[in-house]
Amino acid sequence: MSLTIGVDVGGTKIAAGVVSDSGEILAELRTESPADSVIEIEATIASLVAELRLAHEVTAIGVGAAGFIDNSRSRVLFSPNLAWKDLDLRSDLERLTGLPVVVENDANAAAWGEFTFGAGADAEDLLLVTVGTGVGGGIVMDGELVRGGFGVAAEIGHIRLVRGGIECGCGLLGCLESYGSGTALVRQTQEAAAADPSAAAALLEGAGGDVEAITGPMVTEAAQAGDPFAVARLVELGTWLGEGIASLASVLDPGVVTLGGGVSAAGDLLLVPTRASFLANLTGRGHRPEADFRLARLGNKAGMIGAADLARR
Ligand code: BGC
Ligand code: NA
Ligand code: ZN
Repeated sequence: MSLTIGVDVGGTKIAAGVVSDSGEILAELRTESPADSVIEIEATIASLVAELRLAHEVTAIGVGAAGFIDNSRSRVLFSPNLAWKDLDLRSDLERLTGLPVVVENDANAAAWGEFTFGAGADAEDLLLVTVGTGVGGGIVMDGELVRGGFGVAAEIGHIRLVRGGIECGCGLLGCLESYGSGTALVRQTQEAAAADPSAAAALLEGAGGDVEAITGPMVTEAAQAGDPFAVARLVELGTWLGEGIASLASVLDPGVVTLGGGVSAAGDLLLVPTRASFLANLTGRGHRPEADFRLARLGNKAGMIGAADLARR
């Protein structure tokens, strides 16, 4: 059995795990991300790796990072939500750890994990949509990740849904990410709660009466407890996502669509409205097969497991 380490680097946390070639996590460490300092992020990854290696013999490291990664799987070219630009993460980590490293986009890594070991294990192709701080995408077609000419394909968070719309972290206006992410969920909920505090009473109570204290997990929890205001916020989010995914289906025609990322913890409360909006916006509906919508099965471990597997390839 050969072991590799998978690392998932997000805006708020860094997770690293020792993963077997059958996708099983044997050990795992997690810490807050020193989000603004590249050097500290690299040092944190290196120390997690060193700690994991005390008890496990590993041969390589795969890193899933929230940004545009070049096609040599080395450099972070750009990241809408992290302070990373043109960073050779691969060489830096190889120098710090002495192991071979591959860097992959976080959502690509998660898509690979779900395709290989999770919700898409029985599928030929897969579109994974991650809903978290941003909206990420990973596309597997004919058993391979679609990486494009330059490595930055599947940046589905930045397809335009609204001309002249809300400004995205990438600098453009009206991206899917500005309407369909966890960040958007919080913004939309706070706006709706400010506009109609009595409808939002249950949520506001949990937030100590402060609209700005409402978080994404609070919305999910309230919706799971049956609060109609919170349920409606997830319907709104899913409606945006479904619209974007329907446009993508015109290009990709995926057999399976998988929803992952932190907000997918809402389960059917997000999946059902997303699928409904997808179908309402799907061209040729009634005359074509319809993609199968599934929740990610590896949860927030998909990126780690996928990155670890990609490190073997
Ligand atoms: C970034 C993607 C990333 C996604 C999820 C987006 O803003 O452009 O590279 O995969 O967020 O983290
Ligand atoms: Na991607
Ligand atoms: Zn954007």
